[in-house]
Amino acid sequence: MVTRVPAEAARRAEDLRRRLEHHNRRYYLLDDPEISDAEYDRLMRELLDLEAHHPSLVTPESPTQRVGARPLEKFSTIRHARQMLSLQNATDSSEMNEWFERIGWTGLDLWCEPKIDGAAVELIYEEGRFVSASTRGDGWTGEDITPNIRTIRGVPMSLVSSRQGLAVPRLLEVRGEVYMNKSDFAALNRQAEERGEKTFANPRNAAAGSLRQLDPRMTAARPLRLLSHGLGQLVGVSPARQEEAIRLLDALGLMTALKWAKLCRGPEETGRFYADLEAARESLPFEIDGLVVKVDDLAAQERLGVRARSPRWAIAWKFPPREAETRLTDIRVQVGRTGALTPVAMLEPVWVGGVQVSSATLHNQEMIREKGVRIGDRVIVTRAGDVIPEIVRVVSRGGESREFVMPERCPVCGSVVLVAEGEVIPRCPNISCLAQVKGRLLHFASRGAMDIDGMGEKIVDQLVDKQLVKDPSDLYHLTQEQLARLDRMAEKSAANLMASIDRSRVTTLPRLLHALGIRHVGEASAAALSRHFGSLESIMDASEADLMKVEDVGPAVAQSLRAFFTDKANRRVVKRLLDAGISWPKPEMKPAGGPLEGMVIVFTGELESMSRPQAKELAESMGALVAPSVTKKVTHVVAGPGAGSKLDKARALKLTILDEDGFLELTRR
Ligand code: IVH
Repeated sequence: MVTRVPAEAARRAEDLRRRLEHHNRRYYLLDDPEISDAEYDRLMRELLDLEAHHPSLVTPESPTQRVGARPLEKFSTIRHARQMLSLQNATDSSEMNEWFERIGWTGLDLWCEPKIDGAAVELIYEEGRFVSASTRGDGWTGEDITPNIRTIRGVPMSLVSSRQGLAVPRLLEVRGEVYMNKSDFAALNRQAEERGEKTFANPRNAAAGSLRQLDPRMTAARPLRLLSHGLGQLVGVSPARQEEAIRLLDALGLMTALKWAKLCRGPEETGRFYADLEAARESLPFEIDGLVVKVDDLAAQERLGVRARSPRWAIAWKFPPREAETRLTDIRVQVGRTGALTPVAMLEPVWVGGVQVSSATLHNQEMIREKGVRIGDRVIVTRAGDVIPEIVRVVSRGGESREFVMPERCPVCGSVVLVAEGEVIPRCPNISCLAQVKGRLLHFASRGAMDIDGMGEKIVDQLVDKQLVKDPSDLYHLTQEQLARLDRMAEKSAANLMASIDRSRVTTLPRLLHALGIRHVGEASAAALSRHFGSLESIMDASEADLMKVEDVGPAVAQSLRAFFTDKANRRVVKRLLDAGISWPKPEMKPAGGPLEGMVIVFTGELESMSRPQAKELAESMGALVAPSVTKKVTHVVAGPGAGSKLDKARALKLTILDEDGFLELTRR
């Protein structure tokens, strides 16, 4: 049966689609979102609802389709119309000079951009619509990863020209790199660790692995991005230079490396840009491993031609590896908050890529065996971006090397360690083990949890060793005098720490839930649980079956929650936390709407009762949008001590200005 879709619904769907894509672009391409995540989710939900009522409204380009289609049995293949080439490498300036000579660079400009450490892909747009995507494969035939690329929010499903006089090309084959930002990668690994899953070695592996998922829903859950750097076939426009081609892609709404690229007029300028880029390497949001130098003139590219697998007109000038050789002096065992025993390599201090390294994780015994590492060996250490240092391989072995043996007892409390069925990691089973107690406290106070500024390792060690604190609820009974008596704690820092502890009393339900350190419950599942149940009591009393009704909560999470909340000691800690005044303004995490709906709030100056992120979270949970700067769209400005130009601007625009109490008043309405 064909039902007619009311014109009104069709118009609204089209409008929502356009707006969602616009916000994707603001977020992923321009790094400058205009609306909050909550507001984005609201638009998305409205579109999902509309499409559910009128299935004929669903188009392949709809942003709702980014959540991931059904899993594939296997990948089919796609043949590239033009070979996807790779690059020859130069490792130093003399190899670069040889290349400059080979191409006879005189008079040729060079387009230089960062070499992104990701996975190569080709996307095809016909009449401005995304139709397919593939991996490089052997250069001629790649795997069809169309459904997976569709899930990447920064990849436009329809091209729109933002430049006057530029029409959308009839056919566009664009090549680029799928990658992850360093911060997204770190968060992904943190989540995996929390769930007891395998972590990725580096952002490139994570990106490549995420792309090759047969289940696009898995890909959708990964923070992938795409940066385009070249063309395959192009019909409808004919750029004459590489820079022009990149600007064209940018004008069509694709993300490029324009911001980090430069047109250089010869070897000297290229050399300077290489040095600049290497100096900026750490501060870029993504991993790069060198500079790609391309002849800018496309006709000259054509003339220079290609070799078997790489063009003559381009080269990758690699950065020296961030690796160093040193001696592994010992392997110590660390006990984490879940009791997991992790071997850590102690190293003779060595500089790796601008940072001094004196230890490296070895993850587990399996890895030590695989790498054949023994105590006393000389080893190569590497550091990739924000990732913790790792041992790459053994270089040589002295006469006195010895094998590492995992202890049978916990090095901290002496309990016999256990390996659970189906697991490989040995754990200390004693939940009162001081290492676990300290680990749980550090987690409780951490940024994504209760966010107690100043509660670091040294403080936690002392608080536990002096028996001032046994569980998180004890933190709220500490006095400033007790804190001031700790080692290396001045009066002022004791007062600051006391204030941070106090401030953390006002929080959100997801933060508290995450802070409890329940196995498998990370930030994302804590948020989903809070949204679903709305109150702590309902989560504490929910059955496994009820818990599993929540998105992304599987049997492992449900079991772990159930086990945690049936434990009397845990319930006691929760009760003591609530008795100590931990609270979160209600209503909790209203899914849509809320008492502050329609308000656009800017915070400026200091707040007393909560941190800025907490205030933002609170406002958004009640339906407000939180903006970074004062514009005409802003409805309320919350100003505290130290407010500066934003307050002046708010006055000039005659906006409603509130102090902190005024804001809190609003949230209680
Ligand atoms: S241009 C003709 N530009 O590095 C070759 N490639 O190791 C076209 N890559 O296959 C490549 N960043 O996947 C180019 N800014 C960039 C790049 C880049 C990363 C990748 C690309 C290439 C591989 C070669």
